[in-house]
Parts: sequence; structure tokens; C-alpha cells
Amino acid sequence: MRQKLVAGNWKMNLTYPEALALVGEIASLAGESGAANAPTVVICPPFPFLHGVGQQLPQASNFHLGAQNCHQKESGAFTGEVSAKMLASVGCEYVILGHSERRQYFREDDELLGQKLKAALAAGLKPIFCVGESLETREADETFSYIGKQLTDGLFHLSNEEFAQVVIAYEPIWAIGTGRTATSAQAQEVHAFIREQIARAYDAQAALDTTILYGGSANAQNAKELFSQPDVDGGLIGGAALKAADFTTIIRSF
Ligand code: G3P
Repeated sequence: MRQKLVAGNWKMNLTYPEALALVGEIASLAGESGAANAPTVVICPPFPFLHGVGQQLPQASNFHLGAQNCHQKESGAFTGEVSAKMLASVGCEYVILGHSERRQYFREDDELLGQKLKAALAAGLKPIFCVGESLETREADETFSYIGKQLTDGLFHLSNEEFAQVVIAYEPIWAIGTGRTATSAQAQEVHAFIREQIARAYDAQAALDTTILYGGSANAQNAKELFSQPDVDGGLIGGAALKAADFTTIIRSF
């Protein structure tokens, strides 16, 4: 079901004591955000911190644990990898898949992402599936065709029931970690396009029901403006999720 949602992607940052201190600070600052209109909040720390951070999450039921990746197989001889089933067993409910950093640095393609999506769904995790264009693609005026292809090849092979579990994050690569946020109009335009593509691939109700997040230099200052757009349901936050005060402000920006 479509919901207001803010996810914090901590990426490969912090030590374990720092991670516990951060979630503790978020818990105390966001203590009263269990209000009825509070968004769903998903904290996505690095793998080794998941269990401990999960234990410290604010008691409010709108806080959930997420991972930043998973392997496509359920178990076996895959040294160094972590399965979706393992993530679920430590309390994860969400997993980020298809982040541009994984596509770029780890060569994750649509076929592999398809397998990871299936593995996550089979383990009962909700995928937060990322799409987004490079600056070069935007400047060549190919944003819509590029995102359309990422959706068709990467996501729309799922059944209606599977797709209903997915959250989509639009993260323009040129806006990630650069301080150069998409304008709210640019974000809205792509989010509306994504919703149209969902309506074509599935149906109008699926399009209305899908949660679509914006990510890319979203922060305490610009979150309200971004979240006020009709097709922007929240954010996938990187740098600003590492600062408890900023992250809490973002949570309250609806
Ligand atoms: O997944 C979140 C992300 O890639 C955005 O990062 O640091 O630009 O908020 P940041």
C-alpha cells in the first residue's frame, strides 16, 4: 500500500559503537514521532550492525530495519555473502536493491537484480528498488527512456502480487552525494512518469498504490519541498541520515 516513507541508507559508514550512538540519538529525538501521521521509517545500516541497531530502534511501530543488499541464493558456498533469509532472521523487513553504487561498482545488471528481487521477496523482505539516470543521460535528454528501460527490464517481470511488495526509489546519479539535489519539479516529473509506466505494466490501481521515494542530496532543508510533490512519497537519504537531528527533521517534513 502507498505510504509516506523515509529510509536512511548509511552506506559503508560508521563503526559499531558509532552506529549504536546514532540510532540511540535518532530514537531519543524521534521518540514522539509514533503519531498517527508519522511516516514509515526504515534504517539501513551495514550488515554487521543490523542486529544491534535493530535492538535499539525506537519502539514506535513505524520504525523498521532494512539492509543495503542481499545475495540472490538462499544459502551455500558463497564466501562473504549474505542471503535475504539471513537478513529476515535478524529482523530486517526491507532491502535496498539496484542502488546505482551497486550497479556501477559491482556490475549488478538487470538479470542479477531480477534474481535478487525474487530472493528478497521469497524471504518476505520488501525491496526498495532504485532507478536513476546519469548526468550524461539527462543532458542527452534520454532520462525517460533510460528509466523506462530500467523499470521494464529490472522490475516489471514481477507478478502483480510480487510488485505490490516493492518500493521504488528514484535516485538521479548526478544528485547522489553531490549536494546537487533535483529540483522538486524535476523529481515530480520523473515520479509521475514512473507511476504512468506502472499503470501500463500493471494497472491504474497498482500505480496509485506504489510508494515512490526520491534520493539524491535530500536534506533537512529541502525535504519538505520535495515531499510536497504529489507523486513523491518520501525519501531515500544518504549523507543526511548519518546526522540524527537532520534525519529527524526529514522524518517530520511531511
Ligand atoms: O541511497 C541514498 C543515496 O544514494 C543518496 O545519497 O548522500 O546524496 O543523500 P545522498
